Amino acid sequence: MRGEAVAENARIHIGGHDLEFPVVVGTENERGIDITNLRAKTGVVTLDPAFMNTASTVSSVTHLDGEKGILRYRGIPIEELGEKSTFVETAYLLIYGKLPTRPELDGFQRLLTRHSMIHEDMRRFFDGYPITAHPMAILSAMVTSLSSFYPYALNAKDDQYRDITIARLMGKLPTIAAFSYKKNIGHPFIYPRNDLDYCANFLHMMFAVPAEPYKMNEVAVRALNLLLILHADHEQNCSTSTVRMVGSAHTNLFASISAGICALWGPLHGGANQEVVEMLEDIGERGLTAKQFIDQVKDKKAGLRLMGFGHRVYKNFDPRAKIIKKACDELLQKLGIHDPMLDLALELEETALRDSYFVERKLYPNVDFYSGIIYRALGVPTQMFTVLFALGRLPGWIAHWKEMIEDPTTKIGRPRQIYMGPTQTHYVPLEQRQ
Ligand code: ACO
Repeated sequence: MRGEAVAENARIHIGGHDLEFPVVVGTENERGIDITNLRAKTGVVTLDPAFMNTASTVSSVTHLDGEKGILRYRGIPIEELGEKSTFVETAYLLIYGKLPTRPELDGFQRLLTRHSMIHEDMRRFFDGYPITAHPMAILSAMVTSLSSFYPYALNAKDDQYRDITIARLMGKLPTIAAFSYKKNIGHPFIYPRNDLDYCANFLHMMFAVPAEPYKMNEVAVRALNLLLILHADHEQNCSTSTVRMVGSAHTNLFASISAGICALWGPLHGGANQEVVEMLEDIGERGLTAKQFIDQVKDKKAGLRLMGFGHRVYKNFDPRAKIIKKACDELLQKLGIHDPMLDLALELEETALRDSYFVERKLYPNVDFYSGIIYRALGVPTQMFTVLFALGRLPGWIAHWKEMIEDPTTKIGRPRQIYMGPTQTHYVPLEQRQ
């Protein structure tokens, strides 16, 4: 995908060469020096650990501006989608690049519903896990295992089965997620119900038991829709970049997404929502005030971070955190829940936002700061928080994988390095080594 506007050239002077490189301008005026030919022309590469300054691709899925706190999927502000859309509609928007018409939306919803069951042989995989297994371990393994049941999805470049593979993955992930929870608590698996929509069906599979009818709570369904919409994409973050990197080797969709799930699991990424609630519990158990905990974080000796704060890209505020904070307040009120954890979170936020340590470093609450409190109110156990993040992020991962695989200019991802190890040395026989 290289058909973008070029506004000017950047000049690089190195090793006696004076070379020009095009500056690519995106539709939101982001500018990037296209150094594709730098090494070929000069013999040098760029060094950018953690990709702080590197645009790994041109993409038309999501725009975010960390300074202005803007997040838009396919051009539509997250605030509008959060208020007016559903998760399934937002998924369609991300994956297929436009809002669906009524027949398109109904057709997509129907496909997801019809493909929500997993093969009975796959259901038996769950028996092999210990009861203590983290649901993210199960989720990633099950998603890559899907490739063994749908061998025609193995050829990533073959677009004949692409839509059905996407529908299968989106349809089955809630089932796998809910089964991993049921495994964890030793309850019987609850099979999907085709009369329920995506989010309601997930809550049903999570919380229904065969012994009595399950009463669907519409407030909970709406809250889940909102949370999944807010998590649905975030351009080239760690897990999405992982999905693209793995997929760039023409790895099938299931395996590429499984790699993204593993990346998301890390506590500095999607694992942070679990860490936030564990941090709040820990503060409560140790009887610390918000100020005392903030002091420990600033002190750095304890190696603590205020989890749910800070973001690589957002340096003013995270627009998702604003929406989630409001939704969290409203949900607890509607469900009549008073959660002391929310009071503590509010106090921590206020204390941190007044503190020069956080102000100077531009650390603000991120999407994970309040999402865990909503999940708790919905009855979701802490270990499942990152699984819910994965459910939400799935359409974003799929959209990026699809964009990458359908782009004829995509090459396998293969960064360079600057080698700092020993220069040539020789093999020493074992008996001569000291
Ligand atoms: N609490 C305390 N100090 C922090 C925090 C925090 N949450 N985040 C950053 N800092 C400090 C760092 O110690 C560092 O201080 P220094 O300049 O004195 O060394 C400075 O702020 C810059 O931090 P970096 O880690 O360099 O910032 P980076 O952009 O690499 O990291 C990250 C971003 C990983 C999100 C970080 O802010 C963090 O660890 N936050 C807590 C975990 C979290 O909430 N993750 C979820 C992110 S959102 C998501 O993935 C969905």
